[in-house]
Amino acid sequence: MKPISSADIRQAFLDFFSDKGHLVVPSSSLVPEGDPTLLFTGAGMVQFKPYFSGEVEPPSRRLASSQKCFRTTDIDKVGNERSLTFFEMLGNFSIGDYFKKGAIQLAWEFVTEYLELSEDRIWASIYHEDEEAHSLWREIALPATRIVRLGKEDNFWGPAGETGPCGPCSEVFFDRGPEAGCGREGCVPGCDCERFLEIWNLVFMEYDQDKEGRLIPLPQQNIDTGMGLERTAVVMQGVGSVYETDLLAPIVTRTSELVGESYREDEAVDRSLRIIAEHGRAITFLIADGVLPSNDGRGYVLRRILRRAVRHGRLLGREEPFLEEIVPVVVELMGEYYPDLKDREQFILGVVTQEERGFQHTLAVGSALLEDVIAGISSAGKSRIPGEEVFRLYDTYGFPMELTREVAGEKGLEVDEEGFEKAMIRQRRRAREAQTFGLARQSEFYRTLDLPPTAFRGYDTLEATTQIISLARDGQAVSEVAEGDEVGVVLRETPFYAEAGGQVGDAGLLASADGEIVISDTQSSLPALSVHYGTVARGRLRQGDEVRAKVDEGRRLDIARNHTATHLLHKALREVLGEHAQQSGSEVAPDKLRFDFTHLQGVTPDELHSVERLVTARIRDNLPVMTNITDYETAIASGAFAIFGEKYGEQVRVVSAGDYTRELCAGTHLRATGQIGSFHILSEGSIGRGLRRIEAVTGRAAEQYVRQRLSLLDAIASQLGGTPAEVDANVSALLNEVEAQRKEIGSLRRRLAREEMGRALDQVRDVDGIRVLSTEVEAASMRTLREMSDWLRDQLGSAVIVLGAVMGGKPGFVVAVTPDLVDMGLKADYLVKEVAAVVGGSGGGRATLAQAGGRDAERIGEALSLVNELVANR
Ligand code: ALA
Repeated sequence: MKPISSADIRQAFLDFFSDKGHLVVPSSSLVPEGDPTLLFTGAGMVQFKPYFSGEVEPPSRRLASSQKCFRTTDIDKVGNERSLTFFEMLGNFSIGDYFKKGAIQLAWEFVTEYLELSEDRIWASIYHEDEEAHSLWREIALPATRIVRLGKEDNFWGPAGETGPCGPCSEVFFDRGPEAGCGREGCVPGCDCERFLEIWNLVFMEYDQDKEGRLIPLPQQNIDTGMGLERTAVVMQGVGSVYETDLLAPIVTRTSELVGESYREDEAVDRSLRIIAEHGRAITFLIADGVLPSNDGRGYVLRRILRRAVRHGRLLGREEPFLEEIVPVVVELMGEYYPDLKDREQFILGVVTQEERGFQHTLAVGSALLEDVIAGISSAGKSRIPGEEVFRLYDTYGFPMELTREVAGEKGLEVDEEGFEKAMIRQRRRAREAQTFGLARQSEFYRTLDLPPTAFRGYDTLEATTQIISLARDGQAVSEVAEGDEVGVVLRETPFYAEAGGQVGDAGLLASADGEIVISDTQSSLPALSVHYGTVARGRLRQGDEVRAKVDEGRRLDIARNHTATHLLHKALREVLGEHAQQSGSEVAPDKLRFDFTHLQGVTPDELHSVERLVTARIRDNLPVMTNITDYETAIASGAFAIFGEKYGEQVRVVSAGDYTRELCAGTHLRATGQIGSFHILSEGSIGRGLRRIEAVTGRAAEQYVRQRLSLLDAIASQLGGTPAEVDANVSALLNEVEAQRKEIGSLRRRLAREEMGRALDQVRDVDGIRVLSTEVEAASMRTLREMSDWLRDQLGSAVIVLGAVMGGKPGFVVAVTPDLVDMGLKADYLVKEVAAVVGGSGGGRATLAQAGGRDAERIGEALSLVNELVANR
């Protein structure tokens, strides 16, 4: 029977591909493991990248998965009927096994025979030059009129990240009929109307894109496909949008209950409801995968959508925290397939609650600042808040523009929205440029300038007077820069450390007599050339100007804490795990440190504790940190660690902490280990075969971490009605209680179902000598409904059985007809269509068993009462 519910669609997909020899692999985390080029997992193929590139041998040449995905591409569009940040991608993959023909054949078979989509509603698009794909679609399935050629934009799948596997693709579309579309002549897949819904993308992955954008043939031809579960559910459930599918409708429903507004009455309200539902779901999954709200990277994306959801709650009049009510709905809906959600529900709730309350606080602070701005504007006799000001409130304090407008409006002021938009666009462009003007292009550029190497002064001092020898803006050398410009600056000498050996680049300030540049990062764009990246905050600066270069001291000190701690950690790991535990990579930033090392098994909690204890003991010892320059052989002979595979010059710099550890290192460190203050390991895990990663915090960040953990513990303890010391026992008691209740609910449900079925038997009617049972029952899922119809059919021997139930606010039906009656012309698939049509739904199945879903639960009785007549008129 064709799958209708999203759970059934997912299962049908995985079962189908498993039958076709594919190994079904679980979804990987939304945070890509060991792939620094990617912010989030945005496709099923991400976890398989090393297989495609040939670096790692796959466990099977055929793989399939249902992958949770997060994409920021449409983040600002969320609120319309189709844009999503979080979605699930069903995919089948071939690593050098079948290629185009196999992929198209499998897709066609699944779509037409398993999803039972009508063949004449399927269209395909292909990459315009891909003649092979064209003739394969012709041979296997489609007339040329339903194959559309599209360009690179649509039908060439670029690499996930800057580099990686890619290739031409072919998309499968479902035609929702002319009435769903724009009606324009020449409306075909690729048109931006709603008629053709893209459900599946087949990528013929045969190239690897390198840093320069060149396409290099891969060692083997691969297949990567992605079928959108949400969109497929739209098709199978015959609904208008993803928000009406069983994946999102229950979240929309709960949200509308919380804010006391119904869906589909007012477009502005609907938009807010969709934003809350979509972001609520994404937030739950992101936190479950370890993303925490912060001001950069993944954490910032999370923070942004969480705040947006909160703000839309406020727009709908909900002032108290409410996201904690959305999370359980998501967990309930998706926990079956993603059990991590269930395991981490309490944690997710803790994070959501804290962040939501924090934002309520931000809103309060922002309001005070806004009052000041308003007072200033009013007393200057003006009536308009400048766009830059609105943007500053938004960018620095997280105070949304819409709220500024609202508050200003109450005071009779307006906001310069155009100016705000411009500031926003400038910011986006800067972010984009920062991303696209990558390091590779930077080195190209600086090579052509041919500048003298930068002398580094930053071991001994954090400030120096020096000279600007080159200025660049938008990838061009310029002689002068002015306020607002994003610039790259090269100095004659510098106290700024350029990112190297895992230690991030310094930030700080360059000040001349006429202007200031705020530096946010320093990179070696060529081996001995440091480029300072930043924004001109004030005035003008020229090539040749004398400047005072000042490193941000607090940040540098935070970095030094993490760097010195990294050395202690490296040594402690070798002590506890053995000398094989060697550094294979690290990242030393102001807020945390990351240390990658070689070790075959998992590190046990006991081992991890020992490591942490050793490091903290060396911190308390307050060992002096010393550096000395010597030749490589002498350094190694004195027991210094060198990193395998790293190139060293003849003269090396050795950093030691007392007699505990010695390492070859060019980084900047503390004077003594005591300055680290405190140290906590945040996580330990695998990042590849034989490779492990530890993340840890020190100093201020460690303190904050402990404080947050303790307040979370306090909050949990008080929710459980006890002291922190009692939490463990209280949680166990609670879990036992839940388990007992779960069992009891199970047995009550079964009893209820038996009683329901008993009651149903009383409803059997005789229609022209045929036993007909058409009734509404209580059932929690389609599956229960099917089980009930099976049981009733066994009881009745010969009968037409039509069961209807309201599930999650939506009507659903199962129709069973015993074979003797099928022979008399009574067909379940026909009956179910007629019945479902009454409630605005559709469905299908076989002549003996069919099922359908619908929209209008109110008319379920009317739908069921049709059955006797249908049987009589057969
Ligand atoms: N990786 C392909 C996509 O995301 C299937 O569309």
